[in-house]
Amino acid sequence: MSNGPEIGGVEPITVDVVAGESYWWCRCGRSKSQPFCDGSHEGTGFEPLEWKAERSRPMSFCTCKRTKSPPFCDDSHDEL
Ligand code: FES
Repeated sequence: MSNGPEIGGVEPITVDVVAGESYWWCRCGRSKSQPFCDGSHEGTGFEPLEWKAERSRPMSFCTCKRTKSPPFCDDSHDEL
């Protein structure tokens, strides 16, 4: 088990989310399908975070995994 998440990317990824859909945000940073989980967390102790869209709109998802407001970008990547 690792101590903290890996850095999945250094910029957020904007996704056009669809109302009513669930999204599984990668918490571990290892997914090759950032910002979402691809199962690569297995064995790390991390689990993805489910987030459900209430309305359709573009949202910026965190990829560095340092955000204080997961699953969204809060500009924490600026401090990496
Ligand atoms: Fe990172 Fe699943 S691949 S949480």
